[in-house]
Amino acid sequence: MSSVAPANPVPPPADSPRKIVTTAPENSETPLDAQRGWITPTESFFVRNHFAVPQIDLAAWRLRLTGCIDSAAEFRWDELDAMPQRSVFATLECAGNGRSYLEQRAAGVQWGRGAVGNAEWSGVSFRDLVENRQIDERALEIVFQGADQGREGGVEGEISFARSLPLDVALHPDTVVALRMNGEPLTPGHGRPARLIMPGWYGVASVKWLAGAAFIDRPFDGYFQTVKYTVERHSSFGKSCEIVAAMRPKSEIIRPVHAETLKAGRHYVEGIAWAGSETVAAVEFSCDGGCSWRRVELTGPQEPYCWTTWRACWEVSAEGKHALLSRAISSSGEVQPMRHDPLNGGYIINFSRPIEVTVCARGDCWPRASDPQCPPAHHS
Ligand code: MTE
Repeated sequence: MSSVAPANPVPPPADSPRKIVTTAPENSETPLDAQRGWITPTESFFVRNHFAVPQIDLAAWRLRLTGCIDSAAEFRWDELDAMPQRSVFATLECAGNGRSYLEQRAAGVQWGRGAVGNAEWSGVSFRDLVENRQIDERALEIVFQGADQGREGGVEGEISFARSLPLDVALHPDTVVALRMNGEPLTPGHGRPARLIMPGWYGVASVKWLAGAAFIDRPFDGYFQTVKYTVERHSSFGKSCEIVAAMRPKSEIIRPVHAETLKAGRHYVEGIAWAGSETVAAVEFSCDGGCSWRRVELTGPQEPYCWTTWRACWEVSAEGKHALLSRAISSSGEVQPMRHDPLNGGYIINFSRPIEVTVCARGDCWPRASDPQCPPAHHS
């Protein structure tokens, strides 16, 4: 018996705190300008759906394990809830985040910069579900299957959302079947009743409305990792296709905002930065369009999988337009690039993007209401 009833596309509420990018299905962004603190509140956390949100009857729902294991197994929600719970703080970023800023337009949802958020995800380590089970030595990958389905351009009939992980990645203790987000049961938009959380990887790997996990003995060739969510790579062996996986280092300036007018003086420039499964080792700030850089103060926790917050004190007296930039450096030394790699197409968009502000020295422009002047001693 199927526990999933077909759902009509339900438009997001008109008063959603998220910025709506498309309505059916909902794709909506986190308003980063409003981001305060380290955790993104669930109601403003971006939503990325390929199909309509499936309506799932919790009483009938099961998570099914199948394929190359000694015996198929299924779990009810309350059984998962009764198991030892693991909590992972992780930043989720859509691989297409920032697509609307590309010079060369790429197909897909035209995200601004808000398809990213940081939350606490709790549930069961996936590997706890296979404990005491015999995994066939032929098993190579695990395919995580969502309960949502629909049509995608160029494909005949309906397809389901599914992504695979290599066995060792899926069996890492931090790969979690999450039942809760920020301490509350998952909302329908974020995958109720259960979703995978693959911390450190682009959000596409974190399959929502999880219905099954199939152990397979060959590379999975599903649509969302062969046709979509792949990038081209060139080497001496020729061209190859790589599945979008680990998140690359990236930072954003949150305040001031692009096109803002500031009074000459000392201003805090604030932002966020992340580096996939690594920690952010440093963030650098430039107020001259990238000619010179200086290190900023990291103000948030520096945890693997998570963004950190940062701020710099910027003293400016010159009237006119100024290009502000930031760049993240990961703990292994990878530096956020200045240009988009065209081989990434519409994915992995982590180049430093300048925000332009106008500085007014004559006193006839208003400082931001919440703009504390930073002290001269705070230069970092
Ligand atoms: N899982 C299912 N079943 N269907 C989807 O459309 N979208 C993926 C992933 N998991 C998706 C999914 C993508 S591309 C992203 S970025 C994240 O979910 C977004 O998670 P969120 O909507 O909770 O922010």
